[in-house]
Amino acid sequence: MERKNTEIVKINNDNLDIDKIKTAAGILKKGGVVAFPTETVYGLGANALDEKAIEKIFIAKGRPQDNPLIVHVSDKKQIEPLVEDISKEALDLIDKFWPGPLTIIFRKSSIIPNSITGGLSTVAIRMPDHNVALELIKEANLPIAAPSANISGRPSPTDSIHVMEDLNGKIDMIIDGGPTGIGVESTVLDISGDVPIILRPGGVTKEDLQRVFPRVDYDPALEDGNSSLVPKSPGQKYRHYSPKAEMVVVCGEINDIVQKIKELSKKHIKEQKKVGIMATVQNRNKYDKETIIIVGDRDRPETIATNLFKTLREFDKLGVDIIIAEGINEKGIGKAIMNRLRKAAGKRR
Ligand code: TXA
Ligand code: MG
Repeated sequence: MERKNTEIVKINNDNLDIDKIKTAAGILKKGGVVAFPTETVYGLGANALDEKAIEKIFIAKGRPQDNPLIVHVSDKKQIEPLVEDISKEALDLIDKFWPGPLTIIFRKSSIIPNSITGGLSTVAIRMPDHNVALELIKEANLPIAAPSANISGRPSPTDSIHVMEDLNGKIDMIIDGGPTGIGVESTVLDISGDVPIILRPGGVTKEDLQRVFPRVDYDPALEDGNSSLVPKSPGQKYRHYSPKAEMVVVCGEINDIVQKIKELSKKHIKEQKKVGIMATVQNRNKYDKETIIIVGDRDRPETIATNLFKTLREFDKLGVDIIIAEGINEKGIGKAIMNRLRKAAGKRR
């Protein structure tokens, strides 16, 4: 692939330099690709209405063509031309959760290129809760398609340095707005049926959504033990978020988790493997000979979400052969964390 000179621009989120935003928006208007921070992970943006620009995203990421992209907007008026209709349920969700980490699936209008939707008749749309992202979209005055700004299959980028590792030399610009906050991607929600279905658990939790709808379900294909079902969100079927090392996730009661991890790690160390343990702060002192990274606090799972992808990348840099991760409770944001951990460990769901 042709090498590009990727421009790296630092923008202070609390004191936006509008000239820099305008330069980035100019690149998007001309059909270029720009990585930018959002509240979840960094996105790789391009004009959602420009087939050629979209193709550049797929090429830079090495992304499978059938994995559709999320379209990002900065104003809810922007969605009208992109969709067939906006239901009352969608309006309620927009009022309550936008800007924020909730992606809503709509029936697409004819102006949305098929390459955005991977041939589906629906389009995924969200409004990110981040000053840089919102200003960039506003200045470009375009709907912006943006998958996570990583090479396909690698952990999503939660800092500009991760985007540089994966995409430097392949895209036009990287906006460095510091680390992202939430750390796992948006929740993808299908509201076409009677019961809203979470296709990808993410920053807005099932419990949050249940404040708007009495009943919300997960796509059954996401649940353990349903490995014969095909997930409705195409991206969920790929191995994902994968570090270079082999990975296992140990679940159960906390004492059993620690015990099992000790056994596993002993076995791997005997086989001359370099073992990395992804532990919670509660178990800081429970392991010894292994390389330990504390990913967060199991009583405050949002801290684990924030550090998760960064930690996977750190283990790679340390050159461990196997990562053994402590499982956590699947309540709230824990559901999204466990979904990403399982996929990093090579499970389809
Ligand atoms: O937080 C996020 O959502 C980040 C930031 C950059 O906004 N973006 C992101 O994009 O995670 P990506 O491309 O890495 O993931 C998009 C997910 C995939 O699982 C894809 O299959 C699903 O959204 N998706 C997109 N369009 C869809 C559709 N029409 N129906 C079902 N799933 C869809
Ligand atoms: Mg992604």
